[in-house]
Amino acid sequence: MGIPDAIDFVREGGSIFGVFAAERHIPDIENLLFEHGSNEWNHLPEDDVRRHVGAIASGNTLAVIAASSKVDGIIGVVTYELGHKYPQYQPEGRRDSEHGYIAEAVVHPDFTGRDIGTALLSSAIRDLTEAGLREVYAKRHADNIPSKRMMEKAGMVIVDEFADPEIRPTGSRRTAVMRFVVEG
Ligand SMILES: CC(C)(COP(=O)(O)OP(=O)(O)OC[C@H]1O[C@@H](n2cnc3c(N)ncnc32)[C@H](O)[C@@H]1OP(=O)(O)O)[C@@H](O)C(=O)NCCC(=O)NCCS
Repeated sequence: MGIPDAIDFVREGGSIFGVFAAERHIPDIENLLFEHGSNEWNHLPEDDVRRHVGAIASGNTLAVIAASSKVDGIIGVVTYELGHKYPQYQPEGRRDSEHGYIAEAVVHPDFTGRDIGTALLSSAIRDLTEAGLREVYAKRHADNIPSKRMMEKAGMVIVDEFADPEIRPTGSRRTAVMRFVVEG
């Protein structure tokens, strides 16, 4: 029998695998985000994050997670939503169309650099585009190179960059906006 809710990536002989998140995963997702999500580029306001992750229970927040048969808890998460948050970046004629956006992306530091972030992000994008959405957005600190590389490997390209000192107190203090587009 397969893994329930499995998404189509496995790594390292099947000991690392991806699944769609359900309500029972909320505590593990919060633990990973609060333990390993904050860094000089990635600020996570606790109340907002708890609200966002808690909405996995109602289906308003969606998430894919990576787990390993060798460790407890989860080793990676990408959360995402559907809505109308970025009309200004939508292609001509599609300003009012629903699109997807990536909210949080974190991989446990013991497991980074093994394409797990890219696999999770690609799975989230696939889920959104298979639901009929044609654009998926993600914001990151302009200096966050691992995040930049992960997003590029998942097929996203930069559509904007702007000064954002209120939420980016470090480095260039700029936000980059990335987008995946379904061509055709
Ligand atoms: C961003 C993050 C999720 C990426 O996860 P991951 O599983 O390591 O991602 P991948 O292995 O798929 O890709 C990471 C890429 O960044 C590169 N990278 C990692 N650290 C790097 C560094 N210090 N300098 C340059 N490149 C770096 C990796 O080599 C890889 O690129 P490559 O394949 O071209 O070599 C992870 O680094 C993380 O959790 N960071 C902390 C939270 C965060 O900043 N989240 C992003 C919010 S937008």
